[in-house]
Amino acid sequence: MAEKYIDLHMHLDGSITVEIAKNLGELQGITLPSQDDEELGRHLYVPEECESLNDFLNCFGLPLALMQTEKGISEAVRLVADNVQAQGVIYAEIRFAPQLHMRKGLTQEKVVLAALDGMKKTDLKCNLILCCMRGDDSAEGNKETLELAKKYLVKDGGVVAIDLAGAEALYPTSDYEELFREAASAGVPFTIHAGEAAGADSVKLAIEYGAARIGHGVRINEDPEVVELVREKKIPLEMCPTSNRMTKAVQNMKDYPLMDYLDKGIVVTVNTDDMGIENITLADEFDYLEKYFGFTDEHRKTVLRNAVGAAFTTEKVKADLIREMKL
Ligand code: HPA
Ligand code: ZN
Repeated sequence: MAEKYIDLHMHLDGSITVEIAKNLGELQGITLPSQDDEELGRHLYVPEECESLNDFLNCFGLPLALMQTEKGISEAVRLVADNVQAQGVIYAEIRFAPQLHMRKGLTQEKVVLAALDGMKKTDLKCNLILCCMRGDDSAEGNKETLELAKKYLVKDGGVVAIDLAGAEALYPTSDYEELFREAASAGVPFTIHAGEAAGADSVKLAIEYGAARIGHGVRINEDPEVVELVREKKIPLEMCPTSNRMTKAVQNMKDYPLMDYLDKGIVVTVNTDDMGIENITLADEFDYLEKYFGFTDEHRKTVLRNAVGAAFTTEKVKADLIREMKL
């Protein structure tokens, strides 16, 4: 029987494969840098020289250029969802930052509606997470994203949470306290990318503001107190091994702490982050853990059970997922 998976941390712009890029280019009359798959891959994939999250974030140019119209966004959601479904994913939370899709005049609201439209056209069970962005000029956009999340928030079948993405080393989590305090008081669930390009303190703040989950959190082991906080509060970590390797969130993958966190009883989940520019699948991530870290079938079940528990969806959907995955 083919394996079944859950992906809680996948960026729409980072999940555009060569095949999907060609589709979106054709659909919108956009000429791609190459018609040749291999050459196009070289434009799309993270280069070997990637040294940091900052470098990594520069790889989103081409995919974002293909998602600046309602048609492009809707089709991108559908194609990305269909693609992961074909790879065994049975539930996904797809995230994107509405403010990065306004170059051709769309409003954030139109972007969200286009993504919701794409969601209706796939058979994959999925939900959307709206990303706010770290940055110099994102404050107004972030407020609007939060307002849209309040307006469109559902328990399942649409927008279910917000996030904070972007350059964590340059724009500290503390800059976003007000935004997330307001999200918390409005009852909008959120996850925050933290402990990726910055250390454990970033995770501590995210939890203090009320984050239900942490994007990555791989660097919590820089402070044993934060490890204990995450364990004790059962805050799920959305871990993404290939992404962490590429952004050098962990200098040497021999020291990758995922198994250690699992052994400590931390709620670890395994996700892709950006399967398009990383040129991987979620199955590849699990294979990698099995091959190099002694990750067993029991670990796999634990991680998938954790993912179901951490999902921004209803108890009914969670029960269906547990049943379907025979967990
Ligand atoms: N961190 C922050 N922002 C991002 C990432 C990430 O790993 N992937 C896409 N946007
Ligand atoms: Zn991410």
